[in-house]
Amino acid sequence: MTGPGTAPRDSWATRAGFILAAVGSAVGLGNMWRFAYKASEGGGAAFVVLYIVIVAFVGIPLMTSEFVVGRLAQESPARAVRRLGGRAWGPLGWLFILCGVGILSYYSVIAGWTMRYAFDAVRNAIPSDTSSYFGQVATGWDAVGYHLLFMLLTIWVVAGGVKGGLERGNLIMMPLLFLILIGLAIWAATLPNGGPGYAYYLRPSLDRLLDLTTLASAAGQSFFSLSLGMGALMTYASYLKSKEDLGREAMIVALSDTGVAMTAGLIVFPVMFNFGLDSQITQIGDSTVGALFITLPRGFEQLGRAGDYVDTAFFIMLFFAALTSAISLLEVVVAATVDGIGVSRRRAAIGGGALIALLGLPAAFNTTFLGNLDAVVGQFLLMLGGLLTAILVGYRLLPQADAELAKGLPHAGLRRVWAFLVRYVAPVVLIVVLGFLAKSTWNAVVGLVTFAR
Ligand code: TRP
Repeated sequence: MTGPGTAPRDSWATRAGFILAAVGSAVGLGNMWRFAYKASEGGGAAFVVLYIVIVAFVGIPLMTSEFVVGRLAQESPARAVRRLGGRAWGPLGWLFILCGVGILSYYSVIAGWTMRYAFDAVRNAIPSDTSSYFGQVATGWDAVGYHLLFMLLTIWVVAGGVKGGLERGNLIMMPLLFLILIGLAIWAATLPNGGPGYAYYLRPSLDRLLDLTTLASAAGQSFFSLSLGMGALMTYASYLKSKEDLGREAMIVALSDTGVAMTAGLIVFPVMFNFGLDSQITQIGDSTVGALFITLPRGFEQLGRAGDYVDTAFFIMLFFAALTSAISLLEVVVAATVDGIGVSRRRAAIGGGALIALLGLPAAFNTTFLGNLDAVVGQFLLMLGGLLTAILVGYRLLPQADAELAKGLPHAGLRRVWAFLVRYVAPVVLIVVLGFLAKSTWNAVVGLVTFAR
């Protein structure tokens, strides 16, 4: 709507609008599709324990940092990091944009699967052999079509502006999604043979807990699920004017997000084991990328008539959750373009969205490409962005950031705990994890490049 220095920037109408948008960003395919896939791949309960530890000691402090920098700067993260940190920090802004573009390009493909499932569920056309159905849906021209449709919707919402587009949809969809998930978890508890699923999900084994592979995968998942590391929540906070307690807001967002993921696990794992899908899923070539999409419809089918409604509702909700997340991904790119070169919000949304739609095409043809892109951008680069943000806030901006946080959090002791986590705990954990992931990430880069040729 506005170029730099012309009219006032957009801002949130209410505090609830901001929180709901941040929760809307965090809660998405990451909580269901990616959480189920990563937890089933990476050690079940050990993964879950490490995930919670990382959210508490790295995720919440970093989310607070993103909120603080955003509200302090009152401009897009891409510009803010350069203005506040100095010229040397300019590349971090580009890294944010790269992550937004990269993640949304394949996120939209998966969201497309969700739309396809929702359409077929309405028409009662999801077959019993859900693994071969997933195989058909996941790649090819159908996948391309739904991917493009999803990008169109995302562009449409983002082009509408902060108050109009973002705030309204969240208000209705988020509470509905929680309700339907809780209903499903209760139903899953009635399954006769869900026991081994719960055991796998909730009973950690010590050797997996001490395994760096599990830690790295849990850390990556927490960044993706909490929307951290690429300035998405920073962008949302830059539309804040009030002086609320940003530490508390981060806590609310992180707890909601983790609650949804944990509840989704209470559905996926009992269903998976009850119907013996665990062996099927590991057999199909695409590793476990399809875990959620294969298990749940199978479960729904067992519900008989009721299942026809439940699966429709579920996939529609999942689609909305994906949309509110996709909006925040595109918003980073749009905010940077609007603040940076002064084009209109509408133009920026259409131009950026079209580019992203194009870049998503390979992922719509090949799930291995999708998985590699996720490993490089959705895991490694996000945590790299998080590490750099922690260093920027903890070592360059601490006095300013602390003063900004103090506006809503006068308790100096709590702010010292926050500063300690940002300065020492987050960087150490992230350096260890990034070092550990360097080799496999490099292989994924090679995979992407060879596919492109
Ligand atoms: N958190 C979202 C999910 O769980 C995805 C997402 C939205 C995201 N914005 C982001 C991930 C920014 C990383 C960074 O589905």
